[in-house]
Amino acid sequence: MTTTDPDTEVGRDLLRFPPDFLWGAATASFQIEGATGVDGRGPSIWDTFATRPGAVLGGDTGEPACDHYHRYASDVELMAELGLGAYRFSVAWPRIQPLGAGPVEPRGLAFYDRLVDEVLGRGIQPVATLYHWDLPQALEDRGGWRDRDTAHRFAEYAALVHERLGDRVTTWTTLNEPWCSAFLGYANGVHAPGVVDPKASLEAAHHLLLGHGLATRALRAQAPADHRFSIVLNFCAVVAEDDEASREAARKVDGLQNRLFLDPLAGRGYPADVVEDTAWLGDWTAVVRDGDLDAIATPIDWMGVNYYSPTRVAAAADPLVVTGGPFPGLRGVEFLPPRGEVTGMGWEVDATGLTGLLRRLQRDVGVPLVVTENGSAFPDVVEDGRVEDEARTRYLVDHLRAAHAAIAAGVDLRGYFAWSLLDNFEWAEGYSQRFGIVHVDYDTQVRTVKRSGRTLARVIGANAVPV
Ligand code: NOJ
Repeated sequence: MTTTDPDTEVGRDLLRFPPDFLWGAATASFQIEGATGVDGRGPSIWDTFATRPGAVLGGDTGEPACDHYHRYASDVELMAELGLGAYRFSVAWPRIQPLGAGPVEPRGLAFYDRLVDEVLGRGIQPVATLYHWDLPQALEDRGGWRDRDTAHRFAEYAALVHERLGDRVTTWTTLNEPWCSAFLGYANGVHAPGVVDPKASLEAAHHLLLGHGLATRALRAQAPADHRFSIVLNFCAVVAEDDEASREAARKVDGLQNRLFLDPLAGRGYPADVVEDTAWLGDWTAVVRDGDLDAIATPIDWMGVNYYSPTRVAAAADPLVVTGGPFPGLRGVEFLPPRGEVTGMGWEVDATGLTGLLRRLQRDVGVPLVVTENGSAFPDVVEDGRVEDEARTRYLVDHLRAAHAAIAAGVDLRGYFAWSLLDNFEWAEGYSQRFGIVHVDYDTQVRTVKRSGRTLARVIGANAVPV
């Protein structure tokens, strides 16, 4: 089968995706909504963190972001123009419960009601993420994810959102990238709430997983049988130098980023080697109570995979030197600089890492997989009303080929979501990094579909990429 489509390269053979493959784009509430003080929304940890001098590049905040809170209808129209089959968005907990517990803000729930109706009205499947990092500040004031109570509050909040939207939304994710919440939030403090306390960050990781498990249990108990529950993880595709000591370093990184989450979710408990490697920080596993691991292992129906870039490691010259950064307790590991092409974030471009990661997860996870995020930041410019983001377009097509290669190798991959629908607030990088397939002018809020967006639309139309 060949194509004559100009943007998918004339006359090339096509790699076809399965007939019911889910094509989408993803966003997150704090990154796009703006309107942080509107309709009773309470402050989140990111509102607080962004006011801390030096925390976010350029002093950027959640305002104006993409003003999506007010522009959601035209944004959904854009999704329809791109031919998206699905839209992955997140619900802002502080819009629903401004204090993180107790009173519910009806105007917050009403916003997601309208959004979901709009999305469904365009024939697009909504995929709801319940937590994408905007913890209500009131809960952080009581310890945030370091405090076990937050896991229970999360399950309550999740149940009430599901109660309201579950008559229309059937596909759910509890947490987005708990690794980031735990370790960027509490180990190196690069993300909100900006705490540097490595032992507490491991306790936070446990409470996040517990929150996921308790929420999944609560949602399943109240959901019809066709609802599908998941968690979204960010994995490290670790590439080690070719020597024994470096492979040992890779094992440690894989442990703290991947197995620390995968193993308890799969019912295997926390990996013994990771517990041993981190024991010198103090016994963080003391927070694990009877029944927690059962809750965490509550079966999920699919797993979301966020992939951007590989991580290169080697053994550090001194095995006891603490690597620091977001990996609590990590010793004896040296992170190597990227090789070859990098994105605006300085992240190495390597599509083959996605194929390898998906194949590994197919072996380790045992539920269908969805690429819930994949994308790249580049400094785009609008010229004559167009954005010719050649590098992002190449990144996109190469990663779609890599996803296809995984399917061809037997991986049960059900969908692909581009990160992101819109340029948006890139956390500690503020608005300096543009990940969108649609450009956003933050002064005028004008949207311009980039070449990558047009390409994705064609890929979706063909349900295929060129070889
Ligand atoms: C993963 C996060 O889920 C998302 O919020 C972020 O913008 C992208 N990575 C890019 O860094």
